Amino acid sequence: MLAELRTQARNRVPPEVWDYYEAGSGDEITVGEAEESWRSYRLRPRVLNDVSVVDLSVDLLGTRVASPFLVAPMAFHALAHPDGECATVRGAGSAGSLAVLSTRSSRTIEDVVAAATGPWWFQAYLMRDRGLTEALVQRAAAAGATAIVLTVDTPYVGRKNKVGGVRFAVPDDVYLVNLAQHLLPGAVGRDSAEQDPSMTPDVIARLADVGGLPVLVKGVLRGDEAVRCLEAGAAGVIVSGHGGRQLDRVVPSALALPEVVQAVAGRAPVLADGGIRSGLDALVALALGASAVLVGRPVLWALAAGGADAVETVLRTLADDLRHVLAVAGGRSFGDLDPGMVVPRHG
Ligand code: FNR
Repeated sequence: MLAELRTQARNRVPPEVWDYYEAGSGDEITVGEAEESWRSYRLRPRVLNDVSVVDLSVDLLGTRVASPFLVAPMAFHALAHPDGECATVRGAGSAGSLAVLSTRSSRTIEDVVAAATGPWWFQAYLMRDRGLTEALVQRAAAAGATAIVLTVDTPYVGRKNKVGGVRFAVPDDVYLVNLAQHLLPGAVGRDSAEQDPSMTPDVIARLADVGGLPVLVKGVLRGDEAVRCLEAGAAGVIVSGHGGRQLDRVVPSALALPEVVQAVAGRAPVLADGGIRSGLDALVALALGASAVLVGRPVLWALAAGGADAVETVLRTLADDLRHVLAVAGGRSFGDLDPGMVVPRHG
């Protein structure tokens, strides 16, 4: 299903947009390994567990979602579909999922909220003009976001050969759509909206305060770093290598997840993303201790191929696939899973 969707999307968007979506940084080693690393685990199923009724719902920091496949924050959905993020949130809501809206959204927070039919979180980058980040976080909170996702793996944007380096040529009216109202005409440039490389852990508590919302830190690949985030006030962490778009050759999320889960030791939810493409990939992540997974590029493929309806379909199909494999593996709900259900392929 995903392969077909990917081909349809590829035929629909201009080649430079396709390259922007697909791109990873460096030699794209991390992009290449992401999917394979989830497939490298083997299952140790349970049996005789009455799986006639299966429940896929999860509680994430007080937000109940019907399915653990969330939509990862991604920039500029309007490049894939004229309704941009409005279509994405509509599709996600119809599928019982939760969408994370990127700072680099190509539709305003308010327009997206008007289209939303389900819960959503707001992804923040700390920008060089910190007041801009804080204004966006406050706006998102006022508009109904139930958590903030602070992405910390991007002190500088990763260099992607496919798009000729760092910056993909997005028009200003797309790039700055969420910022314009905070600034006097001409007062903002792309520079003030770029990531602040001087970010330190105190930002976590600051944004939690400013927004009055829990903050999940996205882009953590080590147990000790996850603990540092929690100690600084994070309500959760997202194990992520940014879809291979930041530092090439980072450890794949599937291999980093157990270390992070162990270090966090149940104190906060741990989510994961990067190369999640099937129910089995999610089953492995959930068995390893993830509370939910985020899906990136396949959502953009769906959006390009068929707008909100296709986004709903891809998320429903993934959930349906997970419902099936969870039951066949002997699980009625995620509470039945534990790390003993998976082993490394050669372990
Ligand atoms: C991203 N990602 C991302 N992450 C983030 O925190 N803020 C952002 O604005 C973006 N933008 C973005 C654009 C595009 C085109 C892609 C493909 C990805 C990373 C994203 O949230 C997620 O970590 C990965 O995409 C997950 O990997 P898969 O599912 O794409 O393999």
